[in-house]
Amino acid sequence: MTTTQYWTASTTAERGEADLKEAAAALAAGGVVAFPTETVYGLGGDARSTEAVGKIFAAKGRPSDNPLIVHIADVADVESLCESAGEIERTLMRLFWPGPLTLVLPVKQGAVSPLVTAGLDTVAVRLPDHPLARDLIAAAGCPLAAPSANRSGRPSPTEARHVLEDLNGRIDGVLDGGAAGVGVESTVVRVLDGIVHVLRPGGVTAEQLQAAIGDSAEVKRNDGAEAASLVDDLAGEPAEERASQVLRQGAEAPRSPGVKYAHYAPRGEMLLVTGDPERMVAAAQRAADEARREGRRVGVLACAEHEARYRAEHVLRVGSRAEPATAARALYAALRRCDELELDYIVAEGFPEAGIGAALMNRLRKAAGGRELRV
Ligand code: TXA
Ligand code: MG
Repeated sequence: MTTTQYWTASTTAERGEADLKEAAAALAAGGVVAFPTETVYGLGGDARSTEAVGKIFAAKGRPSDNPLIVHIADVADVESLCESAGEIERTLMRLFWPGPLTLVLPVKQGAVSPLVTAGLDTVAVRLPDHPLARDLIAAAGCPLAAPSANRSGRPSPTEARHVLEDLNGRIDGVLDGGAAGVGVESTVVRVLDGIVHVLRPGGVTAEQLQAAIGDSAEVKRNDGAEAASLVDDLAGEPAEERASQVLRQGAEAPRSPGVKYAHYAPRGEMLLVTGDPERMVAAAQRAADEARREGRRVGVLACAEHEARYRAEHVLRVGSRAEPATAARALYAALRRCDELELDYIVAEGFPEAGIGAALMNRLRKAAGGRELRV
């Protein structure tokens, strides 16, 4: 058991600065500290130190074959981590950094602990769009390996209190910078042979990527989630097996090891209902009623536009359908709320998949472990 320090940069400017320094000193000394980014809170440690990175895996209970993203404070820092960045990658850095885009690049030998890359010959790099994150990295004086600061399998934390729920006593500290703005993780991409493969949809949308690179290159979604159509065929298989079957289908394509794990799941069973909005509301209500009759503790995750239409004990709002960015921001806190309410059956509405909706639906599908009812 470690004593977890709580630092906040949002009190007085002076105190904030002292807190940031203490948090940076803990990192420089090989500790692990949770910090805010624009997407979700990350659990940082010196990416060069196998000891520090080992503490990250241990605190999270994360499988060691799932590599970590390395966070830098300045675009120029990417050169110390990777061998070469091609023209498309440089364009993406110029247009989207700082921001919620992670680039997978060939790793420079010895630049980071082998634990960070899980033995791959690539490293995932990101420059976060959060001043506290960048100040912390710069003050620590090292690139920070940082996965989301949750226990493995739990929803990612969008507030410092979520970090403490999962990791109090297991990490050296948390730097509180308020609620995260984007709410879902960064988009992970790998550029190969002129194709931008989206390994994990996130804060930067496929549409934004395509617009940025123009007609010269193609953006291809490759996160295994488009394989939701396979869910019916594979129903009944454990979630991990289902995901790995989905991954095997694209054997030639680059992959993000993390996508094969069940993620973001509340403790209760979750059903995702998708399709035409009117039919969706009706079907979600029927599913909630049925579970209720079976004596289960039921909650509905609904958009602001529909929440008043449900008859259920717990109706939790997940942003607005008209503004999917608000739903992305609210999703993980809502999933955590389901656990606080000890719900054992959760019916979640689907959202349109355009723009940030792709990342939102990717996370909802994972939270539902593949249980999707299309109406
Ligand atoms: O927004 C984010 O990206 C947050 C904040 C804290 O920055 N971080 C985050 O880290 O989501 P994590 O560890 O939860 O997710 C990292 C993802 C995983 O899906 C992992 O498999 C993938 O990035 N990844 C890391 N290194 C990779 C590599 N070399 N090749 C392919 N995928 C990689
Ligand atoms: Mg994560």
